[in-house]
Amino acid sequence: MNLVQWVNFPALGDGRGSLVALEGNKSIPFDIKRVYYLFGTQPGIARGFHAHKALKQVAVCVTGKCKMLLDNGTEKTEVWLDSPIKGVVIDSMVWHEMHDFSPDCVLLVLASEHYDESDYIRGYEIFIKAVGQ
Ligand code: TYD
Repeated sequence: MNLVQWVNFPALGDGRGSLVALEGNKSIPFDIKRVYYLFGTQPGIARGFHAHKALKQVAVCVTGKCKMLLDNGTEKTEVWLDSPIKGVVIDSMVWHEMHDFSPDCVLLVLASEHYDESDYIRGYEIFIKAVGQ
């Protein structure tokens, strides 16, 4: 599986503006059990710094932009989330960090499971051991 998997959302537009509809098991490659969003991120703040054992997520900046670092233990890459019609998949067992939030950034995240703290791996060394590197 590629470390970076983009999901393109068709924008349904007309003279009034644009609309994006996200549906589980259609544009989003899993059943959506939870939606959350980050906004008002303070200047210079970075977030994330964890991986999930089982959770799959898709993240999209509906307004503004931020940088997402994705790391599967062997490969590491950074992508800009800067479009309301393009999301990135955060697969299970992918370490991720979000940096360089614009002041207006609203980062919407669709998640395959309900919130479960026991699904988090919050230590990078523990993550590297868990992925066998
Ligand atoms: P956390 O996942 O640590 O934020 P980030 O990784 O984006 O920096 O979550 C911050 C806090 O919010 C933490 O106390 C857990 C809580 N939280 C929920 O209660 N439900 C959720 O769905 C999420 C994502 C977080």
